[in-house]
Amino acid sequence: MSSKLIAPSILAADFANLQRDIEMVNESDADWFHIDVMDGHFVPNISYGMPVIQAIKRHATKPLDVHLMIEKPERYIEEFARVGANIITVHYESTVHLHRTLKQIKDAGCKAGIVLNLTTPVSVLEDILPECYMVLLMSINPGFGGQKFENITYQKVKKLRKMINEQGLSTRIEIDGGVTNKNAKALIEAGADVLVAGSYIFKSSNKKETIKNLKTLVNS
Ligand code: DX5
Ligand code: ZN
Repeated sequence: MSSKLIAPSILAADFANLQRDIEMVNESDADWFHIDVMDGHFVPNISYGMPVIQAIKRHATKPLDVHLMIEKPERYIEEFARVGANIITVHYESTVHLHRTLKQIKDAGCKAGIVLNLTTPVSVLEDILPECYMVLLMSINPGFGGQKFENITYQKVKKLRKMINEQGLSTRIEIDGGVTNKNAKALIEAGADVLVAGSYIFKSSNKKETIKNLKTLVNS
């Protein structure tokens, strides 16, 4: 069985102690840094952009998984690649020529993924799946950390896993929003490969221990 991955969401880190929190992730059992970029248009919140990602990159020893919650992400792909993104995911709902945007991400030297909002059915991915390194399914309405996980995610994961298997692909499924030790195992059983967790990790008293336990749980 291939290892299931944990991607702590830096949105929940202490920005005044960012280097400390990055080093905590470096030393932990986590696999990737999940980095949320919000533009105040596609989602009703603004987070951070290139200079912050560049600063994270200087300290991070694990891949940067950059989740773009911005309108027309095709305007900035090369910039995100330049500041250190390893994986770039764009929302299906944010770009008109998705195929072209995915190619742009790959041409910039990154792995490319598509994100679906809660109400976007996985069936829209049928023809584009072979182009995806990963599909990220939102399990909340994007824009904020600390929201409640939505149970409709399970059926979407199962459907998507079936589509991926039927096409004989190795596309990974990532889940983002409200992930905790209460739903992590069920998500893996439904077919997920990578779990993003923000508040659950960064609000816990022993962050490294929380990551370790989550990693053990999803790989048990
Ligand atoms: C929200 C972001 C998430 C967020 C998850 O739009 O995409 O990555 O940081 O945070 P939690 O795990 O707290 O729901
Ligand atoms: Zn995210």
